[in-house]
Amino acid sequence: MQHSATPVVTAVRGHILQFVGSPFCEDPMSVLRDYSDGLVVIRDGKIAEVGDYASLRSELPEGTQIDDHSGKFVMAGFVDCHVHFPQVEVIASYGTQLIEWLNKYTFPAESKFGDKEYALKAADVFLAESFRNGITSSSVYCTIHPESVDALFERAEVVGARMVAGKVMMDRNAPDTLRDTAQSSYDDSKALLQKWHGRGRAIYAITPRFAPTSTPEQLEAAGSLWREFPEARLQTHTSENKKEIEWVRELYPNSQDYVGVYEDFGLLGKGCVLGHGIYLSEREKQVISESGTAVAHCPTSNTFIGSGLFDVDGSQRGAHPFRTGLATDVGGGSSFSMLATMRSAYEVAQLRGYSLHPAQAYYLATVGSAQTLYLEDKIGNLQAGMEADLVVIDPRSTPLIAHRMAYANDLMEALFIQMILGDDRAISATYVAGNCVHQRG
Ligand code: GUN
Ligand code: ZN
Repeated sequence: MQHSATPVVTAVRGHILQFVGSPFCEDPMSVLRDYSDGLVVIRDGKIAEVGDYASLRSELPEGTQIDDHSGKFVMAGFVDCHVHFPQVEVIASYGTQLIEWLNKYTFPAESKFGDKEYALKAADVFLAESFRNGITSSSVYCTIHPESVDALFERAEVVGARMVAGKVMMDRNAPDTLRDTAQSSYDDSKALLQKWHGRGRAIYAITPRFAPTSTPEQLEAAGSLWREFPEARLQTHTSENKKEIEWVRELYPNSQDYVGVYEDFGLLGKGCVLGHGIYLSEREKQVISESGTAVAHCPTSNTFIGSGLFDVDGSQRGAHPFRTGLATDVGGGSSFSMLATMRSAYEVAQLRGYSLHPAQAYYLATVGSAQTLYLEDKIGNLQAGMEADLVVIDPRSTPLIAHRMAYANDLMEALFIQMILGDDRAISATYVAGNCVHQRG
């Protein structure tokens, strides 16, 4: 990044949307502030001001570049709090559920990522596809190979994206090509953490894949690494599939339940994001809630792999509420589009008997996901002082959407139409740290 004496000021004009509260705790209609002709003023990659164009334009330094997206929605870039970059090549793989899906498609694909050049190409595809869909930050599972972690962080660094990522740790129940050991996974993870965590916008996540692919010794190693570096994040999977839960009971007979395994090894706490959490017991929800652990809701994955229906409302308003974000979980997930992921979250909620409000869906995809990573002071909303990661949504991106929009009565209906009918074609532009990284057309 270049530092000049005079700060670089730019601005983005459009229909600005900003969260001023939680739609799960307050009236969802009241938590979105909007400026129909608004301006986001950006100084050195951070948001300097958000407000009405009419009142802010006179304060801009002479010659300030203003990107004009009038008539389009401008909001915080989406945050994907659980995704696997090496699995892009197996998205849309037919006919299996979790364990068979891992063995048949995922593990063979991940086995190739010891090749740095291969990993770099995959990282390019992953980042381009994320930006095309308005995703500006992700929490990423790499593979067991340190090369895969270097590849992703190196490419993210070039554009200055805030990226959370880590080397997958797995020392059993996986092919030879994908097994490390408790010691080597500790050593490699530590070296990567020391190399990347806090460098630019990179954040390291200690990443034991899930209880079935780690021995107790490896989970112990992951826990001691986190105690040494509590500022790092930690990510793993839990309670996604009924057979998986049964398997964990056999592998860890001394733990109370699936979440209890992670609890026993010191892997829960602020900065831990558990993927899925579909079949959590009240006890598990309570330890998640009390420890500050978060859960990534991955609706397209849960329906595509046939895992089940996550109770998102319960996660926010149940007896034991916990931080919850929205995630694509590509390649188990079937789409890179956060709009499509919101639609899927809406459909999953419908099947559970309630309707996810559009304000709640957009909140989960931005503020909620940022909260899972304890990054809500930096990303996931448009507030002065936060990092200038933005998405611009064209509200009339297809003939059908344009037609339907002619009958929309208010802002919430317009946003709902986008999340039900929209996809990558709705993403007009994406900004990372104030720089445009994707422009449609
Ligand atoms: N559980 C363990 N590994 C994975 C994975 O790669 N994807 C999903 N969806 N679940 C998992
Ligand atoms: Zn996953």
